[in-house]
Amino acid sequence: MALEPDRWSRWLLERRDAGDERQRSAILDGLAPIRERVLTHAEPLDGATLLDVGTGDGLIGLAALERVGGGGTVIFSDISDALLGHVHAAVARRGLLDRAQFVSTGAEDLAEIPDGSVDIVTTRSVLAYVSERSRALEAMWRVLRPRGRISLFEPINSLMFPEPQDRFWGYDVGAVTELADKVKASYGGLSEPASAAMLDFDDRDLVALAEAAGFTRIHLELHVDVEAGASLDAIGIDALLDSAPNPLAPTARESIAAALTPAEQERFVAGLRRAVQEGDRLRRSAVAYLVASKPG
Ligand SMILES: C[S@@+](CC[C@H](N)C(=O)[O-])C[C@H]1O[C@@H](n2cnc3c(N)ncnc32)[C@H](O)[C@@H]1O
Repeated sequence: MALEPDRWSRWLLERRDAGDERQRSAILDGLAPIRERVLTHAEPLDGATLLDVGTGDGLIGLAALERVGGGGTVIFSDISDALLGHVHAAVARRGLLDRAQFVSTGAEDLAEIPDGSVDIVTTRSVLAYVSERSRALEAMWRVLRPRGRISLFEPINSLMFPEPQDRFWGYDVGAVTELADKVKASYGGLSEPASAAMLDFDDRDLVALAEAAGFTRIHLELHVDVEAGASLDAIGIDALLDSAPNPLAPTARESIAAALTPAEQERFVAGLRRAVQEGDRLRRSAVAYLVASKPG
């Protein structure tokens, strides 16, 4: 299996946490309850054939392997061969290759997956990067057996973005707000379709897409949180600066370098460092969990 890194594997395996152990464990701590909820919504899993679409580094699929048991199968699918190779190695280390398949295919058509061949489709934070989401929901419907179900999680960025003007990473950067504006504006360069897709849907669109694809018994949970005091202080500002918020975005340090003069960069990073130390942070997030069934 080809292991050439691509932007998806670079982000998941390097740029998301900048190689920093504290950052990595903070991210995994945040993802664990999401993984649990996606899999709990997909129950019962014992003996099932489960397709994890856009499996990435295997957050959902590797945990599903345990739960489908010896009589079940997990199909790890992604457009990144580098990530499929990474997950293949992880499954091999667990000695569970006999209950796993690896399929290189896009969420838009799941072309390599036969009609009516799986019991459950899971996906986390993948549709946000897919412009043709209606095709993706139709493809999920196609590959499911009658009474099959989907369990999805997606960030609803359109409800929380852009963050308030005086905030950066959620911190009050009042003294350097005009520099923060310039840095945030440099993200405006992200105009390719997959970047636009991150912002052009909300929870109601997900329900409408599932309904239009033919699913019945659709249930969506929207979680909107604004939480004061959720500081990132323990991670360390350098790891934060060298991390990218998503696979299509530059790291904060890259954005700062692109947007500011060297003197402004120094002033901005000093202001940000002060803000992180003071710890006045507002965490803002909106996410949706969707479960839907195909009729029998
Ligand atoms: C944010 S990561 C999420 C990975 C994993 N689902 C998780 O929960 O950690 C997005 C994943 O979607 C994959 N992806 C992006 N566009 C895709 C597409 N059109 N079809 C299938 N997978 C895609 C990427 O390769 C990457 O693995």
